[in-house]
Amino acid sequence: MDFELTPEQKMIRDTAREFAAREIAPKAAELDKTSRWPSEILAKMAELGLLGVAIPQEHGGAGMDAVSYALAMEEVSAACASCGVIMSVNNSLFCDPVYKFGSADQKERVLQPVASGQKLGCFGLTEPMSGSDAQTMVTNGEKTSGGWVINGAKNWITNGPHADWIVVFAVTDRSGSKVKHTAFLVERGTPGFTQNAADHKLGIHAAHSCTVFFENCKVPDANVLGQAGDGFKVAMATLDGGRIGIACQAIGIARAALDKSVAYAKERKSFGVPIAQHQAIQFMLADMATQLDAARLLAWRAATMKDKGVRHSAESAMAKLYASEMATRVTHKAIQIHGGYGYSTEFPVERHYRDARITEIYEGTSEIQRMVIAANLLK
Ligand code: CAA
Repeated sequence: MDFELTPEQKMIRDTAREFAAREIAPKAAELDKTSRWPSEILAKMAELGLLGVAIPQEHGGAGMDAVSYALAMEEVSAACASCGVIMSVNNSLFCDPVYKFGSADQKERVLQPVASGQKLGCFGLTEPMSGSDAQTMVTNGEKTSGGWVINGAKNWITNGPHADWIVVFAVTDRSGSKVKHTAFLVERGTPGFTQNAADHKLGIHAAHSCTVFFENCKVPDANVLGQAGDGFKVAMATLDGGRIGIACQAIGIARAALDKSVAYAKERKSFGVPIAQHQAIQFMLADMATQLDAARLLAWRAATMKDKGVRHSAESAMAKLYASEMATRVTHKAIQIHGGYGYSTEFPVERHYRDARITEIYEGTSEIQRMVIAANLLK
């Protein structure tokens, strides 16, 4: 076992760290306050290859590995959790399945522009009445000659208001004892595919999500992703990778909160000394740092397994479960260390606290992660 990163992994981490500090962090509070979509930041992230980190260069990506992606996700998310999730959805939930399950034509026509960041992708699984129990979706895909007709709605679609492509899941066969699903690639502008205005949320304000609608939306056979009938497995395998991204988003948020807490504890005085000299504060910082490192190691293990092509469903679920709950605890303690200032919108830790909360919900709630882990234990 070797905990040392390769020179390439260190390089992408340092590049992402320097970029995030220079281009993203100074704008994070403004993005949060105004809910502005960070298009100029995304354009620069595209130039650095951050929108297709683990996609081979011949398909428009940066040609790095999943560990590099994990490192870059932490850096971007430490600066701005909204930029982190926009990046995560494009990389993990769109590019990854098109690379893994797509035809040569789809890789050239769809993956290349999205992995290089000229276009943006999103992922449509959740519906108004089906979130955790994803198989109960009602969006329907009906076979016609040369293609399919999709009808239904998907909600909480991160990147939805801006995305050029969506991978959307629909029920396409109800004849057997188990329904079968199919994954489709649908381009913005396809007649019958429309987007609502962006949702209003507690945190990650600059990462816009919305409901999208499919009304008699015709999709050609060439846009079926993977085999017809295998869509649920495409979705689940995709989420195995996506959960690593969200774990790293949570790790980035928690790291930012810890760094600010350490700095504040050295400056702020009480009872005649910096509060960092009080054991009550030291113990909080020690617990925060330990939990943060544990989460990071879980995420790196899952990413390493993904790089080796080994099934990592349980390991990704453990990383996402632990990292997201850790981020909520760590950001909570960060506010405690900052006292009244921590509760003020003038200080960034309240933003970290709000941003952390969603990581326990999207890409599978903590309860779903526990189900995946338990199913793996008991099989
Ligand atoms: N890889 C490949 N195949 C898999 C798989 C995986 N990781 N997990 C399950 N499968 C296969 C199973 O082998 C099974 O195949 P067979 O039918 O051939 O036996 C099939 O898929 C069904 O599996 P299950 O019986 O385990 O399915 P289930 O109905 O019990 O559900 C679940 C499992 C884990 C609860 C799943 O529904 C789930 O993950 N729910 C949460 C959904 C979720 O994470 N949504 C997030 C939306 S995306 C998002 O949030 C994006 C964003 O905005 C950031």
